[in-house]
Amino acid sequence: MLELKGNGFILREWEINDAPWLQKNANNYKISDFLLDQFPSPYTLEDANNWIALNLNQEPVLNFAIVIGGKVSGVIGIVPRTDVYRLSPLLGYWLAEDYWGKGIMTEAIKIFTNYCFKELDYIRIQANVLGNNPASMRVLEKAGFKLEGVLRNAMVKNDVILNEHIYGHCKA
Ligand SMILES: CC(C)(COP(=O)(O)OP(=O)(O)OC[C@H]1O[C@@H](n2cnc3c(N)ncnc32)[C@H](O)[C@@H]1OP(=O)(O)O)[C@@H](O)C(=O)NCCC(=O)NCCS
Repeated sequence: MLELKGNGFILREWEINDAPWLQKNANNYKISDFLLDQFPSPYTLEDANNWIALNLNQEPVLNFAIVIGGKVSGVIGIVPRTDVYRLSPLLGYWLAEDYWGKGIMTEAIKIFTNYCFKELDYIRIQANVLGNNPASMRVLEKAGFKLEGVLRNAMVKNDVILNEHIYGHCKA
């Protein structure tokens, strides 16, 4: 069982019994409003089980559960890309609302990015952020990412047209 330790939390592989806490914490419009439409909302127990089935025994591990006090309280992972983008996957993450503002995701991104560079041989991690999500932009900056560009009117979320902020972090 791969486990990466943070201050007050761990990033670990998925377990079959994670679905109830995943469902409870993911089922929040304040989270889904800032993610792709493919993130289920409302988030059901079936959605949680589907996610776990996709990620159970993943090799290499690309998606970690963020576990606080034994409970799944968030997710951090990458979506690999192909062709000329194969060394620069896209980062995604969310944290249970109860734990916002404590620096947890900043540290989780640092730990996870380090893992991607050292263990998975990626050379760049990219995050695409909705233009109405300053908390996520701030977290990325604190974790060492740079704002590399703003794509105007690139996204539509909840019927609102938004700019897309592209953040990147390259292996030293
Ligand atoms: C974005 C998210 C992951 C942040 O996690 P977190 O653990 O609370 O982040 P941290 O505590 O490490 O840092 C949050 C920073 O954002 C800042 N922040 C929060 N809300 C803000 C706002 N509305 N405007 C500007 N900055 C804001 C905080 O002040 C803090 O910065 P500081 O340390 O300089 O004060 C969490 O809010 C979340 O899961 N949001 C919903 C899902 C999401 O947006 N995912 C990312 C999609 S790209």
